[in-house]
Amino acid sequence: MDPSTLGVLKRIEAEGLEYDDQESEHGRKWLNLEPETGHLLSVLLRLSRVHDVLEIGTSTGYSTICIASVLQEHGGQVTTIERDPVKQARAKENVAEVGLSAHVDWKLGEATDIVATLSGPYDCVFFDADRISAPAQLDLILPKLSRPALVLADNALSHPEQIQGYLRRVDELPGVAHIVIPTGKGLSVAHLP
Ligand SMILES: C[S@@+](CC[C@H](N)C(=O)[O-])C[C@H]1O[C@@H](n2cnc3c(N)ncnc32)[C@H](O)[C@@H]1O
Repeated sequence: MDPSTLGVLKRIEAEGLEYDDQESEHGRKWLNLEPETGHLLSVLLRLSRVHDVLEIGTSTGYSTICIASVLQEHGGQVTTIERDPVKQARAKENVAEVGLSAHVDWKLGEATDIVATLSGPYDCVFFDADRISAPAQLDLILPKLSRPALVLADNALSHPEQIQGYLRRVDELPGVAHIVIPTGKGLSVAHLP
């Protein structure tokens, strides 16, 4: 990652920690990905050479930048979903600052509704939003995944009760190779053949 993009990520991280510390309402917090998880995400995407990624949970664009900075190397695109217009507007500013806007398709609204309208195909999906709705969103997106596909989710260790339905659903997928990596809040990494 180039130094100016890294600098913007460090700024978002610092602003996010400060903002979340003073914001009492959970739904308004930014909850950006931990830097080590962002780094792991970038490494996984680079190694798997994915081209079209669906991200569920944009917030202010920290992970969107991690994803788009890899995809721009070979002309790929990330479609990213957020229901909060204030966070999405800030994400757009952050992505524009690092020159990656051409690699991001913005969607505003409820993730499950939006996922149902997407045509794909995607070779990777990254879940970082509503863990309770994630199994239904996974079922909606499965027919729109090209194969092989990478299926990722954050919070696999931080919210065990909320995410257990999703993890169980992933384990049921035919031929899946699935591991939870204990980085940050726990990244669920599944490979669909
Ligand atoms: C953990 S944060 C995402 C952090 C982001 N990936 C990053 O690294 O900066 C989760 C985001 O998902 C959004 N969200 C939660 N449930 C959603 C839903 N059902 N539909 C759309 N967005 C949702 C929240 O508003 C929040 O901004």
